[in-house]
Amino acid sequence: MDDPVIRLESVTKDYPMGEVIVHALRGIDLEIAAGEFVVLLGPSGSGKTTTLNLMGGLDRPTSGRVIVQREDITRYGGKEMTRYRREKVGFVFQFFNLIPTLTARENVEFALALLGSKTGDMEKRAQELLEMVGLGDRADHFPSQLSGGEQQRVAIARSLANHPPLMLCDEPTGNLDVETGRSVLQVMRDLNRQEGTTIVLVTHNTSIAPMADRVVRLHSGTIREIATNPQPAPVSSLEW
Ligand SMILES: Nc1ncnc2c1ncn2[C@@H]1O[C@H](COP(=O)(O)OP(=O)(O)O)[C@@H](O)[C@H]1O
Ligand SMILES: [Mg+2]
Repeated sequence: MDDPVIRLESVTKDYPMGEVIVHALRGIDLEIAAGEFVVLLGPSGSGKTTTLNLMGGLDRPTSGRVIVQREDITRYGGKEMTRYRREKVGFVFQFFNLIPTLTARENVEFALALLGSKTGDMEKRAQELLEMVGLGDRADHFPSQLSGGEQQRVAIARSLANHPPLMLCDEPTGNLDVETGRSVLQVMRDLNRQEGTTIVLVTHNTSIAPMADRVVRLHSGTIREIATNPQPAPVSSLEW
């Protein structure tokens, strides 16, 4: 692959647990191209979250290298790693982690403020981000006044505050019913197609796989199979 955005080279991750060592990843080699939508699929405990956390600089491998945009992030010190996460990565998790006392717009503004945006620009930019995820008319709602799918879309808007080239999503529909889950996946597919954002989406749900450009199957900390979808399925056709 020419110049992948992410390259994992012989990545292992061990977790010492008292007397035993859990081999969470046993040697992963994977390249992800710019603009790809990749689904990382596998049963619980197969190493999906560990892989995603290593890509996002939330954790470090036991051995091997994680190359992002030609830089080996495993060599980064703490400050460089923080800057990497802030500038390059948008994270979306299963639990939306919105601040309940802030409105949708304020939740996004808060993320912008952490990035050092000027106060005057924040409201407009937050509104734009909410419009990108189809929630322009819900900006003044509190999380409790939004459906699960809408809350997840606010979380996506928030994760886009830094315009990340890379979006890492860990079971983003894990808590959602089919219909709201689809609305979240559609937003991600649109972002990927329209903005060129590279997306890695982790799930145990095989029904989501057909929408991906490529599906990487993990099992017991190893890659079992990588399959390309020549014609990814429309999100509207997914059922679970
Ligand atoms: N912080 C940790 N300490 C010890 N073991 C862990 C830790 N995180 C993950 N593991 C173990 O590593 C394996 C892979 O976990 P994980 O990457 O979370 O899998 P998945 O996301 O596919 O469910 C599992 O056996 C899990 O119990
Ligand atoms: Mg997980």
